[in-house]
Amino acid sequence: MDKALLEATAAALVAPGKGILAADESNGTMSKRLEGVGLESSEEARRAYRANLFATPGCESAISGVILYDETIRQNMDDGTPIPDYLTSRGIIPGIKVDTGTIDLDGYPGEKVTKGIEAEPDNGWLDLGTRCTEYFDMGARFAKWRAVITIGQGMPSDTCIRANADALAHYARICQDSGLVPIIEPEVLMSGTHTDQECLEATSRILVQTWEYCMNHYGVHLPGALLKPNMIIAGDDCPNQLSREEVARKTVECLTSHSGGTGLGGVVFLSGGQSDEDATDHLNLMNAMGVDHPWELSYSYGRALQAAALKAWAEEGAEASQAAFAHRAKMNSLARSGDWNISLE
Ligand code: 13P
Repeated sequence: MDKALLEATAAALVAPGKGILAADESNGTMSKRLEGVGLESSEEARRAYRANLFATPGCESAISGVILYDETIRQNMDDGTPIPDYLTSRGIIPGIKVDTGTIDLDGYPGEKVTKGIEAEPDNGWLDLGTRCTEYFDMGARFAKWRAVITIGQGMPSDTCIRANADALAHYARICQDSGLVPIIEPEVLMSGTHTDQECLEATSRILVQTWEYCMNHYGVHLPGALLKPNMIIAGDDCPNQLSREEVARKTVECLTSHSGGTGLGGVVFLSGGQSDEDATDHLNLMNAMGVDHPWELSYSYGRALQAAALKAWAEEGAEASQAAFAHRAKMNSLARSGDWNISLE
């Protein structure tokens, strides 16, 4: 394992003022997103939209890395330049989603475990180690694996927490052995009626187990890894919602309590369905709090960086889409140092 390379990549991904664009929607998810704004989806439609996004002038000042999907890392920009080469030439680090989705957790209705370590001949996926080597050769320097944790009656079960923590840690080790910085993403979903306290408890449990598996079972080098957590937020359908200040405070407290001593290379939040402004303001408030914590608090947003750009792509075209993306990227870049405010919107 090349620890120096991993640490350098992790540090570059959370450089001051910068964060990650998650553009790694699977073909199914991206098709739904395009259809959601009235466009037909196809391999070329997905490429054209994303190539335009990546070509946004100046976005490298706010975007340190882009997470790609397997289809996209093999595609080209409009001029024929391979997308990972193009991003690298702009000083943006290419990353790759390497999980292959979720399957039902046997015996635990409603719960899921993420897969992607073993080969899946029926779906055309090679085993994770082989894919990591190929992606590294294509220019990728980091990877992402997303576990999904649902809160509900009796959920998350300990079995679900353990199965997902084990898979996250196993994935992280395989990536690091191939020179890829793993983004460890245990996402506690926002859908449901659960309270912020239940979100806090589920998030704490998955963090504790994930570090246990990383440190004591798989030998993951945590300074060469990034955590991509949810924030502490009540479920979408819970009548009692925290203020933005409380979300920021509880999220930092949760991370400090359960990830403080890990030596982790950085924290990059997911947006998880929050509004664009909530996602920006929550990050801004966390960075403005002045609490001493050992990691950069940054973003790895999908929807909160792309929703406006996708709508503009459908309704107004290429330049408007880039302008919308550049604006959200700039707003989140300012939030990295607590310098965002509503008047800038
Ligand atoms: P959202 O910011 O839309 O939650 O996407 C981030 C991500 O990569 C989810 O895996």
